[in-house]
Amino acid sequence: MMVPGKVLISEKEIKKKVRELAKKVSLYYKGEDVIMIGVLKGAFVFLSDLMRAVKFPVKVDFMAVKSYKGTETTGEVNILLDLREDIEGKNVLIVEDIVDTGITLNAVKRILEKRKPKSLRICALLDKKERRVVDVRGDYIGFAIPNKFVVGYGLDFEEKYRNLPYVSLLKDE
Ligand code: IMP
Repeated sequence: MMVPGKVLISEKEIKKKVRELAKKVSLYYKGEDVIMIGVLKGAFVFLSDLMRAVKFPVKVDFMAVKSYKGTETTGEVNILLDLREDIEGKNVLIVEDIVDTGITLNAVKRILEKRKPKSLRICALLDKKERRVVDVRGDYIGFAIPNKFVVGYGLDFEEKYRNLPYVSLLKDE
């Protein structure tokens, strides 16, 4: 059975990083209104901490997408849950838990770009660079991590372990 093993990023390290990222994005938006868009489910923990650490008026919305099987080249995704907010002319910050192949993020970005936001930026807590299939770059990245499966702080293994306050590797027990 796969269970959480070694802690890769501690709760303290995450807290520090969230503060740093919040400072950077706050400097960028300079008090302007921003809609933070969480990509479900993984991003909700990070988003809830990040939104409380920033210094500008925030609206929050969520999106859920599913990549089609075998679409690594086309990167097509299915929208399972769409936004309620109209983002035209607004500052949009996509918030992601992790960028892995980049397919999800790239697809979300393209969908949102078509809706003509004033600005569109990306903030991701974790980045698995080695696995990248699609060239998509985050504007704000928390930690670069090795090509290992991680859980905690919103990230799951078979829907479990999202509630861990740290990011951990998995081990076979
Ligand atoms: P991508 O489209 O390959 O970039 O996949 C991104 C999504 O896959 C993330 O939003 C996560 O939900 C999931 N994911 C990727 N790597 C991991 C991991 O190590 N642990 C848990 N979920 C992951």
